Amino acid sequence: AEASYEHILISTPRPGVGQITLNRPKALNALSTPLMTELNAALRAFEASKEAGAVVITGNEKAFAAGADIKEMKDLNFASAFGNDFIKNWSELTQISIPIIAAVNGYALGGGCELAMMVDILYCGPKATFGQPEIKLGVIPGAGGSQRLTWAIGKAKAMEIILTGKNFSAEEAERWGLAARVFETPEACVEGALDTAETIASYGRLAVKAAKEVVNQSMENGLSEGVKFERRVFQSLFATRDQKIGMTAFAEKKKPQWTGE
Ligand code: HXC
Repeated sequence: AEASYEHILISTPRPGVGQITLNRPKALNALSTPLMTELNAALRAFEASKEAGAVVITGNEKAFAAGADIKEMKDLNFASAFGNDFIKNWSELTQISIPIIAAVNGYALGGGCELAMMVDILYCGPKATFGQPEIKLGVIPGAGGSQRLTWAIGKAKAMEIILTGKNFSAEEAERWGLAARVFETPEACVEGALDTAETIASYGRLAVKAAKEVVNQSMENGLSEGVKFERRVFQSLFATRDQKIGMTAFAEKKKPQWTGE
């Protein structure tokens, strides 16, 4: 499938690690419908391959993505946006079961910021610039930004950012808890994301899948329900071979050889 992509680049730079590079540099990686369709297809392909244990999504030094494609959107009307459920397929990314890390350099605006917030771990470089400028275009965030930004950094800051359309920096994203880490250079950011992806890919796939699922569930549940869900998933992992392998290896001071079973 790799050969057929037009708006993204695909590689496997480390053992068990897939990389997807958004590649519409002339449009600052504006997230057109064809690009998002390819992104979803590539993520599905990595998930289905069983080779990839984690995926890194990145852009280039100038832009992770400067938003949904404004030129594509400008002539939509309500009937076509609602009738065709415009951008519904953006949520497919959140259905992928393997961990996804974003390595954000440059602009991550509007839908670009929303895409970055949809992934599991957000890393950024020193010049990353985040924002939800939709208000300046007469619209509002449409791919989860109002919800995920508010969850991540709280109502006061999210409201200010969304109502003013003002950008925020890499350092602010990290301080406010949106970004897990800021790196010193754009290259270090991508390498750091690949390192983390490689670490994740080195673990038993069932435990990784379960861990991602229980953390994500924390956004959906109240605390006691969430803790109970976590406990049940934890208990269920004692039915796997990888649990025996992991704990036996520890007791015997050996390196575990994961089976994914
Ligand atoms: C389509 C875009 C684009 C976008 C940039 N371009 N952003 N095309 N959609 N979101 C195009 C420009 O039109 C231009 O094309 C080329 O990329 C280079 O951009 P410039 O503006 O010349 O670059 P620069 O002067 O460096 O300014 C960078 C920028 C600016 C500040 C990031 O491009 C900008 O403000 N972009 C729009 C940001 C934005 O509003 N994003 C939110 C979109 S709404 P040409 O052909 O002239 O070379 C959104 C809704 C999400 O995302 C909700 C649902 C998903």
